[in-house]
Amino acid sequence: MSHHSTIDAPAITIPHLQQWARDGRRLVMTTAYDAVTARLADPVVDMILVGDSVGNVCLGFDNTLPVSMAMMNHHLEAVARTRPRALLVADMPYLSYHLSLDDTLCNAGGFLQRGAAAVKLEGGEKRAETIRALVECEIPVMGHLGLTPQSVHAMGGFKVQGRGAEDAVQILEDAHHLQEAGCFALVLEGIPSELAARVTETLSIPTIGIGAGPHCSGQVLVLHDVLGLTQGHRPKFVRTYVDGFDVLQQALRHWAEDVRRGAFPAAAEAYALPADAHPGVSAWVPNSPNKS
Ligand code: KIV
Repeated sequence: MSHHSTIDAPAITIPHLQQWARDGRRLVMTTAYDAVTARLADPVVDMILVGDSVGNVCLGFDNTLPVSMAMMNHHLEAVARTRPRALLVADMPYLSYHLSLDDTLCNAGGFLQRGAAAVKLEGGEKRAETIRALVECEIPVMGHLGLTPQSVHAMGGFKVQGRGAEDAVQILEDAHHLQEAGCFALVLEGIPSELAARVTETLSIPTIGIGAGPHCSGQVLVLHDVLGLTQGHRPKFVRTYVDGFDVLQQALRHWAEDVRRGAFPAAAEAYALPADAHPGVSAWVPNSPNKS
């Protein structure tokens, strides 16, 4: 149970990321939902997203719709306590930016007060007014287009978007509306590579792809997918670099076996009683006069 100090490197800011993208340096983002995953990710990536994917990845929900502001704040606070140097982005959960501007500004501003440097929200042109209001209140916004998981029912499932000619053009137009509204970057999820390439080459802000091919300014994957900690169906855009679930469960099995065969703990893993305390401890019996 040890705590690490923060990385001794300057914080990554939005201007850094935008400059790196202009220089052709690909940006890397992953998710973190607690202090452990934040410490794993921070030395490696440019942006940490406290995603509402926490709902399906960690909290056992089927999708992101049940995730509340209270849940997001809880997870954001855990990540923010590690004081990451990566840009910390907090995902606005379903219904946290749909009801009123006041509500949206309070929710997003609360994220910044808890340590996020930016918020992310899903949707195209219809979110432009909301995004303008957030930016006006000094809240940087990352947009999210294409397969937007909070629209799972409206989309009829988790389906690749922008395959039809009209849908593809709508995504291009939405991307430009989000840029004009003031987004500093866009996540493009589950769209054809050629469409993501066209969005990327026509925008001046960076695009971060997930299931959107190689021509985005950067890539994002859920940390638990990269580390093989998620079970069940994995979409084809996920590349898993270690069978984390099996590796970690195997380690746990070894420990359980050691406990059962009396091989854990060893003397070096236990605390010794100082010699002067031995006589009293050995002499003590239940209900003896020694008991006070
Ligand atoms: O919630 C999330 O993890 C996301 C990423 C997959 C972009 O929105």
